[in-house]
Amino acid sequence: MKLDCIRVLMIIMLTTMIALTGSVLMAQQDKMILDSSNASQNKGRPAVTFFHNRHVEAGLDCKACHHLYQKGKNILDESQLVEGNPAIRCSQCHAAQLRLNVQQAFHSQCIGCHVTYQKEKKKTVPRYCGECHARK
Ligand code: HEC
Ligand code: HEC
Ligand code: HEC
Ligand code: HEC
Repeated sequence: MKLDCIRVLMIIMLTTMIALTGSVLMAQQDKMILDSSNASQNKGRPAVTFFHNRHVEAGLDCKACHHLYQKGKNILDESQLVEGNPAIRCSQCHAAQLRLNVQQAFHSQCIGCHVTYQKEKKKTVPRYCGECHARK
């Protein structure tokens, strides 16, 4: 009886610990404020709140959004996807010299997937300006 109690307690403690560390690790990447404007530019719309985790939890592959293209192939090494790595930021590459500037890159990726997703899964995801550019 006593031993059973200890065992149950240990299991509860362990699972709480795992749950806590897990949520701390995940929380780092959740809720990002995306802002593609720079200081010399007036912001036309409120910055976008992006829940990174919800997208990962919806089963999307990292490489559905993150890429490094070589000869048209996405050769990104997923070990590069660590917090604070400037090379993975969209604005790092999507500047004036690429076909898509950073605003176009975001719009094309975010809205593009949402439109397809909604069509295929019949589940409503934001597609209108104010749904992403929400005033707080
Ligand atoms: C639905 C699109 C999407 C998916 C799927 C996705 N990400 Fe991201 N991720 C983004 C966007 C957008 C940013 C912000 C980029 C920026 O600030 O320029 C980002 C940023 C990051 C950052 C940088 C965080 C920081 O502030 O330094 C890391 C690390 C990251 N993602 C890892 C991952 C990993 C690992 C996966 C797969 C498990 C993943 N991402 C899946 C869209 C996505
Ligand atoms: C290492 C540089 C680099 C980074 C970082 C990067 N891109 Fe790209 N991206 C490119 C290149 C190169 C292309 C292909 C040439 C083009 O279409 O302009 C491209 C193409 C795209 C396209 C066209 C459709 C496609 O996937 O081929 C979209 C949309 C896009 N990027 C969005 C994003 C978003 C959003 C982010 C951040 C999560 C991002 N990119 C990060 C370099 C980058
Ligand atoms: C590859 C597909 C894909 C891309 C790219 C994508 N999304 Fe989503 N988005 C989804 C899916 C799937 C959901 C529904 C998630 C769920 O089950 O709640 C969603 C839900 C959302 C929601 C509503 C739910 C929430 O988390 O509040 C917002 C807001 C959102 N996305 C913003 C964005 C923004 C901003 C970008 C670009 C930086 C983006 N998404 C890129 C697939 C995508
Ligand atoms: C699925 C999400 C999504 C939708 C829908 C969306 N946007 Fe965006 N938009 C973004 C993201 C992400 C950025 C880059 C982050 C930022 O600067 O706010 C962006 C950037 C911008 C920018 C450049 C930055 C700025 O604020 O000046 C403008 C302007 C803009 N969007 C206008 C619009 C308009 C107008 C619509 C409707 C026709 C729209 N967006 C719909 C996600 C979205």
